[in-house]
Amino acid sequence: MTPVQITAVGHYVPSRKLTNADLEKIVDTSDEWIVTRTGIKERRIAGEHEKTSHLAIEAARQVLHNAKIAASKIDLIIVATTSPDSNFPSVACLVQKALGARSAIAFDVSAACTGFIYAISVAHQFLLAKTYKNALVIAADRLTTMIDWQDRNTCVLFGDGAGACLLESGDKKGILAEHLESYGEYGELMKIIVPETRHPLKPKHANGVLPYIQMQGPELFKIAVNSMADCVEKALEKAKITISEVACVVPHQANDRIISAVAKKLDIPKEKFFINIEKYGNMSAASAAVALFEAVELGRIRKGDYAVLVAFGAGLVAGAIVIKWQ
Ligand code: UT7
Repeated sequence: MTPVQITAVGHYVPSRKLTNADLEKIVDTSDEWIVTRTGIKERRIAGEHEKTSHLAIEAARQVLHNAKIAASKIDLIIVATTSPDSNFPSVACLVQKALGARSAIAFDVSAACTGFIYAISVAHQFLLAKTYKNALVIAADRLTTMIDWQDRNTCVLFGDGAGACLLESGDKKGILAEHLESYGEYGELMKIIVPETRHPLKPKHANGVLPYIQMQGPELFKIAVNSMADCVEKALEKAKITISEVACVVPHQANDRIISAVAKKLDIPKEKFFINIEKYGNMSAASAAVALFEAVELGRIRKGDYAVLVAFGAGLVAGAIVIKWQ
């Protein structure tokens, strides 16, 4: 099979910060509660002009720059998002247009916080099958537009951002194995409450209530820990690598305590995990993508290292990918 590797990474986060102290003025919460229960100190909030496509385009531009590749040479663009600018055109098509990636085909993937893992996995299949030679995979989310800012259970958790990578087929195998899981039966635990939809036979259209996120945190917590640990173990088994050989685990950043519990379950030191939740909160699909970018930038993943990307999210869906950094 054609070897496929990640050859460049990029990211973009909005400059506007929302600190825990800012949130104390909006809802009945405290910096102490947020830090001890989640590990989050601040998160980034996209401005009016920073729609999800804007975040995705900026991250994609950085990848093209880092990879020294022209947009016209890109074959495939996949954007993992659950907060597109609108249902259509897809964010991927908006990225294609902005970059001038005329030869690429482009589409979005919806797998919530696990989107980056699912999108890499989809792109990987196209490259393995030799349909395309490269793929720009972007994870971009702007969930802060879907928050009920009166609900302290959710509003302290999320932030906006985007991360991206370039997958290329070549002579070195960089993506060693992947393992994906879906549990539709638990979908009710985290969902977007959508107001009554428009209907041609109803005189009044949408009632003015915007969609917002509702989740059952403690239930999700347990499934997140079990499924992420399970996915890491199964992906490593497929890659024939032991956890002790892995230099860095790059997890979805939903809660620092979830990461601690996954480390305990896998019986590895927490120091092996790359964690940036304190700066960004939960950026949904973008969390693992931005974490991968920073782990590489900061030298936590170096040439020749084995690393594991792992995530969990609404759906419910989970997945892990074992990579060898080339
Ligand atoms: O991105 C992937 C999907 N998401 C997840 O995987 C999230 C998983 N879940 C979690 O990370 C945690 O469950 C949360 C961070 C969401 C909540 O933490 P928790 O330790 O499970 O708290 P809890 O929901 O059990 O609430 C404990 C208490 C409650 O008060 P009472 O009933 O004990 O009086 C809450 O009302 O904490 C209260 N609480 C807060 N207090 C201050 C909930 N949110 C807040 C808040 N500030 N922001």
